[in-house]
Amino acid sequence: MSGAALTLERAAEVRDRFGTPCYVYDRAGLETAARRALAFPAPFGFTLRYAMKANPSSGVLALFRDLGLHIDASSDHEVERALRAGFSPAAIQLTSQMPSLRLAEHLARGVRFNACSLHQLGELGRVAPGREVSVRMNPGLGSGATNRTNTGGPAASFGIWHEYLGDVKTLAERYDIRITGLHSHIGSGTDPEVWKRATRMTLDLAAKLPEVRVVNLGGGFKVGRMPGEPSVDLADVGAHVRQELIAFRDRDGRALHLEIEPGTYLVATAGYVVATCIDVVDTGRDGYLFAKLDTGMPEVTRPSLYGAQHPIDVLAEGREEADVVFVGPCCESGDILTPAPGDPEALAPRRGPRPQIGDLVIVGGAGAYCAAMSTINYNSYPQAPEVMLEPDGALRLLRRRQTLEQVWANEV
Ligand code: LLP
Repeated sequence: MSGAALTLERAAEVRDRFGTPCYVYDRAGLETAARRALAFPAPFGFTLRYAMKANPSSGVLALFRDLGLHIDASSDHEVERALRAGFSPAAIQLTSQMPSLRLAEHLARGVRFNACSLHQLGELGRVAPGREVSVRMNPGLGSGATNRTNTGGPAASFGIWHEYLGDVKTLAERYDIRITGLHSHIGSGTDPEVWKRATRMTLDLAAKLPEVRVVNLGGGFKVGRMPGEPSVDLADVGAHVRQELIAFRDRDGRALHLEIEPGTYLVATAGYVVATCIDVVDTGRDGYLFAKLDTGMPEVTRPSLYGAQHPIDVLAEGREEADVVFVGPCCESGDILTPAPGDPEALAPRRGPRPQIGDLVIVGGAGAYCAAMSTINYNSYPQAPEVMLEPDGALRLLRRRQTLEQVWANEV
């Protein structure tokens, strides 16, 4: 971690001031990731769009706004959150599975629209004929860390299937729409080689859409959260894309402006959940040793959903080692923090200090799709607070813990 470290003392301060479980985001780490991504070597202009679905906290959004990032919003609601965080409408692009219910209003404000289906493209034509628009295409290839995070190829409903380019053109003609942007996003935790192949496939589609000036290749860059787990080499991917764009210009004459829209890459490793070990149980000599934490699927759902791996550090010294299965506080056998990689149903004990009740425990790699994908209020646990760790070590509250009254506030 760059900047101030989440030491035992600081984790103890988090627990004293905000209670556990509590999300902590490291400002220096967020900034470092953003600056690396901003250095992507685009030859003809570049926009870094933050996929805010990864972590829509206003504290994180404000930081990225100040660094000049733009926004990929995945719903009308995210558009609203980005505007509230001070992004200009022109810096926000809506790419949603859900047809927008506020399309005319967004367009009037200057929010950009990326049509993700033929239906959405037709809607745009009816609401605002004559507009410029971007289309999301499924180039026919996908890749994700697991099948659940693959968003390309025939098994994915995202974007317009590449064989339907003719229908895109027909709609564009009918409504006098100018397709000036082309978008593809083929998955999360993508294999870099597949990503490179999809780049070429997307550019081949751009060649058939003569008014396209901006190509958005999506996000999906793999980030290793566990020690020793490799992350994508963004400079290598960037060098490849740069060559592809130069070759496209040489073939076609168009110098395309490049956009990428990572979520994970920008926030994943800069987030933590500070938790407490609340119980330790075992199932006998041939069974397992379980450490129960006050965090689990409510705050870090990815392990139970995907079999995703997150580092877990028990802040204790001088303990004997043990193989430990870490579980969360829900009455749910799926509430496991240490499943086998890619298999949420299998237990994979971790070797480390034998936990004791009261220990402070840190779950790492929790900046992306953790607070954002919380199974909020299951077992009626209130939503956890979020805190920014400033480079000088100060802890700044971003969002309070939900109160119990807020859990049932909307019941009538
Ligand atoms: N652009 C679009 C249109 C997307 O749908 C997504 C993610 C991204 C960009 C950013 O992808 P990233 O760089 O974060 O991989 N919840 C999962 C990943 C699924 C995200 C879906 N869309 C996770 O926990 O890993």
